Amino acid sequence: MKQFTSVHDAGNINDLINEALQLKKNVNANAELGKGKTIGLLFLNPSLRTRMSTQRAAYNLGMNVMVINLDKDSWQIEFEDGAVMNSTKSEHIKEAAGVISQYCDIVGIRCFPGLVDREKDYNEHVLNSFLKYCNKPLVSLESATRHPLQSFADMITIAETNKKNSPPKVVLTWAPHIKALPQAVPNSFAEWAVASGAEVIIAQPEGYELNTNFSKGAKIEYDQDTALRGADYIYVKNWSSYTDYGAMPEVKSSWLLTNEKLKLTNDAKVMHCLPVRRNVELSDEIIDGPNSLIQQEAGNRIIAAQTVLKKILKTL
Ligand code: CP
Repeated sequence: MKQFTSVHDAGNINDLINEALQLKKNVNANAELGKGKTIGLLFLNPSLRTRMSTQRAAYNLGMNVMVINLDKDSWQIEFEDGAVMNSTKSEHIKEAAGVISQYCDIVGIRCFPGLVDREKDYNEHVLNSFLKYCNKPLVSLESATRHPLQSFADMITIAETNKKNSPPKVVLTWAPHIKALPQAVPNSFAEWAVASGAEVIIAQPEGYELNTNFSKGAKIEYDQDTALRGADYIYVKNWSSYTDYGAMPEVKSSWLLTNEKLKLTNDAKVMHCLPVRRNVELSDEIIDGPNSLIQQEAGNRIIAAQTVLKKILKTL
């Protein structure tokens, strides 16, 4: 593996999941593999899980780790080619990426979308600038349109809890929120879940359709109760509109998942990538209830990151 920015870098997903499940049995089995190697984790946006789980994964492999909040601790970076840099941005990505490449053997980057210019976001302007100017293997720590480490951890969690011999019915459901959030997590989850062979249903109100490049292979449902019937897994997440980019079209019915709605399912396990706004996006009774896989999912972020870093280290 030379980079990890999407499901397309994962190879055979079910082989990768099995590799992760094996790794989970002994996370210290490759404690020497990364000795003398350094990963730089660059954040343009906040993070708890991605930051700490990737750091822990790298430590488990014996790596050195450097973490920097690029937007706060460093110089503001200009990403436009040919820019006249007479404003607040003091350093161009060309210089910054060249420098970072000399300091690190692997580079991780988190860069959220602006949710204003759809074309720019969906062209992955920031991620692609790092891919262009950084000459070291790059790992996405969530980009404008995808969150592959999260989705990989989600697939590991489903694989280790699925009691059926057949592919599970997985419902990705929109949930309410107070502010506009990116489509990266649902885009990515849909891609990975479909690629894993699961039966995938995306439940969303009118106006919240995802880009079909990401949702293809999934069934679309506008009535949440209908979607939930017989579900084995429910993945709860808010996202803003793709069509009316970054907007939050009004939703009149209740989309908050409750124990009452859970009765429609096949005793479904409930997932969420976190952070979650309690009793806005997901109810206390679900988060704290017996069907919640949320903590297990977060724990598997280490396993996902470690599997990816291990595969990249083996190519260095
Ligand atoms: N799920 C996730 O990526 O969490 P953080 O934003 O805290 O890293």
